[in-house]
Amino acid sequence: MTSTRDQRTVLADTSPDVDQGIGFDLAAYLTDRRLLVEAALESSIKVIHPETVYEAMRYSLLAGGKRLRPILCLATCELMGGTIDMAMPTACALEMIHTMSLIHDDLPAMDNDDYRRGKLTNHKVFGEDVAILAGDGLLAYAFEFVVTQTQGVPAEQLLQVIARMGRAVGAAGLVGGQVVDLACEGKTDVSLEMLNFIHTHKTAALLEASVVSGAILAGASETDVQRLTHYAENIGLAFQIVDDVLDITATQEELGKTAGKDLLAKKVTYPSFWGVEESRQRARQLTDAAKAEVAPYGEKGIPLAAIADFITTRTH
Ligand code: FPP
Ligand code: MG
Repeated sequence: MTSTRDQRTVLADTSPDVDQGIGFDLAAYLTDRRLLVEAALESSIKVIHPETVYEAMRYSLLAGGKRLRPILCLATCELMGGTIDMAMPTACALEMIHTMSLIHDDLPAMDNDDYRRGKLTNHKVFGEDVAILAGDGLLAYAFEFVVTQTQGVPAEQLLQVIARMGRAVGAAGLVGGQVVDLACEGKTDVSLEMLNFIHTHKTAALLEASVVSGAILAGASETDVQRLTHYAENIGLAFQIVDDVLDITATQEELGKTAGKDLLAKKVTYPSFWGVEESRQRARQLTDAAKAEVAPYGEKGIPLAAIADFITTRTH
């Protein structure tokens, strides 16, 4: 992980327009928010009868991870004048959805992976049948959790959040991206347009829902929602480009999952179009564009600007 000091340097080097950010301790911010999210996730699901499925749900939900989606949701809610408490149920729900998508993605019928977040994948521990059902359980519970646990938010705003989450998950989002990704497997003639489709749906859609739902919960204006949507689109694509680069450059220990998979599977990735160096450069350009979207918020926008930088400079 990049040290606090490095993160400050990154901010100072790449973004003179957020000079105020030099005093911002991103590592401390991310740790603080991550611990809040971990505590909320820990108490979100109790093991009751039938124990196996609840244990399988908790196994993957509490397996660690950056908790980037919940942290983004909390950050935009605060940026728009809301509170952490107001956004926490939605933040947890976004992580439940992300986790279920990874459980299903790792199944033998999809990517057939053995490790995730440094641990055996869900189906390796609980079997395929329970892993499928644990994913389904998490998906359904995510929506229930937002509705039953959110306090102090008008119902109209909650409905908007639920609609955004639903769209990000379904065929217009994760499911659609995954279908095209699977269809492209083994093909060498995948166009850049197809690759962009896969990632704007499979990765960026949920990141966008995370950013936007936090803002909606706080009652953000349409203009702010638009601005934050553009921020999210840029970091979403940058995130995926960096993911593709790390698959080539990082080790299994750093990633917590199998490294070098894309090359092995002869998968078309951003580095296969642009090479590693140009991919990194394009990720940085997208990060700068994301930071420009939040620059008008001045000091209040610094956490989001710093998170954008973190996405490009992360090592896992
Ligand atoms: C990881 O991609 C997978 C995803 C980001 C999402 C996959 C989406 C699904 C399985 C659809 C889930 C169903 C619903 C209803 C949401 P990757 O395989 O490129 O990355 P990895 O190396 O981390 O596995
Ligand atoms: Mg996978």
